[in-house]
Amino acid sequence: MTSTPEQPSATGAESAKTLWHGRFEGGPAAELLAYTVSLPFDQRLWSEDIAGSRAHVRGLARQSIISDIERDAVLSALDTTTAELSAGTFHYVDSDEDIHTAVERRVTELSGAAGAKLHTGRSRNDQCATDLRLYTKRALRDVARRVVGLQQVLLDRAARAGDVYLPGYTHLQRAQPILLAHHLLAHGWALSRDVDRLLATIERLDVSPLGAGALAGSSLPLDPLGTALDLGFARVFENSLDAVSDRDYVAEALFDLALVAIHLSRIGEEWVLWTSEEFGFARLDDGYATGSSMLPQKKNPDIAELARGKTGRLIGNLTGLLVTLKGLPLAYNRDLQEDKEPLFDSVDQISLALGALAGMIATATFVPQRMQAAADSETGAATDLAEWLVQRGTPFRDAHAVVGKLVRQTLAGEGSLAQLVAGDDRLGPDAAALVAPGVSVTRRTTPGGAGPQAVAIQIERFRAQVDSDLGRIDPS
Ligand code: ARG
Repeated sequence: MTSTPEQPSATGAESAKTLWHGRFEGGPAAELLAYTVSLPFDQRLWSEDIAGSRAHVRGLARQSIISDIERDAVLSALDTTTAELSAGTFHYVDSDEDIHTAVERRVTELSGAAGAKLHTGRSRNDQCATDLRLYTKRALRDVARRVVGLQQVLLDRAARAGDVYLPGYTHLQRAQPILLAHHLLAHGWALSRDVDRLLATIERLDVSPLGAGALAGSSLPLDPLGTALDLGFARVFENSLDAVSDRDYVAEALFDLALVAIHLSRIGEEWVLWTSEEFGFARLDDGYATGSSMLPQKKNPDIAELARGKTGRLIGNLTGLLVTLKGLPLAYNRDLQEDKEPLFDSVDQISLALGALAGMIATATFVPQRMQAAADSETGAATDLAEWLVQRGTPFRDAHAVVGKLVRQTLAGEGSLAQLVAGDDRLGPDAAALVAPGVSVTRRTTPGGAGPQAVAIQIERFRAQVDSDLGRIDPS
């Protein structure tokens, strides 16, 4: 095996037989191993591989395919292997092309003839699919917990934001003032759909492929349902070909993670804007910003930028796998080994991004004066003026035109909007009061709207949603 930095330390000279040595006269070429090994990345699945082997060997004994003595010898070898892998003292050899091969080799070294029975009725095709499903269940649940961690930060900042308001934008043009809490929770609700999606993916992928064998099942009296339940799966496969060739769940996981990344990217983009001198809506804590190697005055929002920038990579991981799957004939093909690296990468990157953004937002300082000064531009209340006319019987389209004309006049320098409104016989001084700073946001009273009463209710609804999601992620 050629050595690259990610590769496990091989013991070098030792090289056990390949799993297929009986059929082959010659051993594997160095180039073949270098190109086809998956050990450098599938090592991560070792605990799932051990769990799968334990369940398999117990199933073999329950079905009297092996004796209880043989089962216990293999289980004890699996215990030793586990201890070595978790202590980092496990020795890989050159012919360990993947984690499945490495574990089986070691178990056979430790338990001899009994170990040689471990792979009875099993193929690496159902084995690697089992391992990856177990991993994906665990990893997506962990990501969901981290998503909730970010939601809790948004909730906390929203609950403490009080009546602070800022411009709400459409087309990145100031549209109407909104409470800061409302803005923060908009991202929070998007993330709660992510949690829901991750949990739905976990529920759908909760199917054991173990017992499908290479593709067609077995002549031995295996008990796939028994091993499924032993491994904590909710269900067992219905079709052995589908069981070993299905990677829909990896594609779904990659989509879920890419969409989380897209949500984080949108948050990131706003924080890049908010922390710019032009906006000045927020300042980053020193611990969550970077400086410049050359420009002494700089304080840069690198976390927010990478939350935006790394999203391309997560979308790439999804599209890459979809292309790999497209056109593959049934059942297992080695192409399917390409399922793991994108999944691991997306899980790792989203986990890092969630932690970094949560810390960045938790520690940042908002600048209400800047937000409110931007929101208090007089024309921000234009819609309130039109709605004021509507409440007094003017058709909305006419009201829109009346106010639009006054906006045009104020932009042409004919006076402040408040003056023009006060002097207009359809509007007058009562209406002009709507243009005063801080008034407009209080008028967004509809359910789910951006004003104080509606947002107070929303905060409690969001808190309840987060609590219930926590219970769904980790049912007690
Ligand atoms: N390492 C492979 C994978 O991750 C599993 C091995 C199956 N290989 C085989 N030749 N049947 O997909």
